[in-house]
Amino acid sequence: MADTDKAPRKQTAVSLRARKGSADKGTTDKGTTEKIAAVTAYDVAFARLADRAGVDIVLVGDSLGMVVQGHGSTLPVTVDEMVYHTRNAARGVASAHLVADMPFMSYQASVEDGVRAAGRLVKEGGAEAVKVEGGVEVAELVGRLTRLGVPVMGHVGMTPQSVHQFGGFKLQGRVEEQRQRILADARALADAGAYAIVIEGVPRALAAAITAAVPAVTIGIGAGPDCDGQVLVMHDLLGLDPAWKPRFVRRYAELGQAAAKAFAAYAADVRAGRFPGDEETFE
Ligand code: KIV
Repeated sequence: MADTDKAPRKQTAVSLRARKGSADKGTTDKGTTEKIAAVTAYDVAFARLADRAGVDIVLVGDSLGMVVQGHGSTLPVTVDEMVYHTRNAARGVASAHLVADMPFMSYQASVEDGVRAAGRLVKEGGAEAVKVEGGVEVAELVGRLTRLGVPVMGHVGMTPQSVHQFGGFKLQGRVEEQRQRILADARALADAGAYAIVIEGVPRALAAAITAAVPAVTIGIGAGPDCDGQVLVMHDLLGLDPAWKPRFVRRYAELGQAAAKAFAAYAADVRAGRFPGDEETFE
């Protein structure tokens, strides 16, 4: 292979963590050498598209409970379902770093539960890291997994598995007590060995303060531009549901509208006898 045809470099927990560089490595003003681009995917087709487009992290999020399964929250998702989707996405990923979410109540009851669930996601799913929601209360698990060789991505702020505790999917960290708690959670995750932390649904200043305070790379969603990277749910980024457009989302395509148009054109062609034509027919 010619030098110019080199495949993109494989992204790992180590290479991503190293992007939180020092000034002598040509960093941005916030301390990251190059911002990290992450996106969710749940199957081989979209994982491959994201991987080939050069996205750094493919996250098999438990958001699949909402965008793939149609539930109102992520809470019903099981470890079996996460393993299944992670295994499918893994077949499409070559260069990106593949992270799988630990679903609700697969790790909250005990560290042993968490170790077993993480083991399945890595061993059966092919995940290269796992993501857990929470802070101080999951720090012991984060430490244990890290020592066992499983990189852990944390997740603080508006953590969707706590939707009932929050009274809905609501911005967190507006009041000082919440702000301090979320900052302490991020510090606890980083101290326990998390290489990355998703910061979701918090004011910009809090995300910036966390990013400055921890050695882990921070990946924001609805947390402003000062994080070390950004993540979006692929259905939001691609506009797969034309009716859903929260403020923190930027749509880079309108695939929902395009797909609806294509389905309607196909149905009209079939009904009118225009499909299949001669070129789609074997003699
Ligand atoms: O489940 C998910 O997709 C997530 C991202 C939104 C960070 O946790």
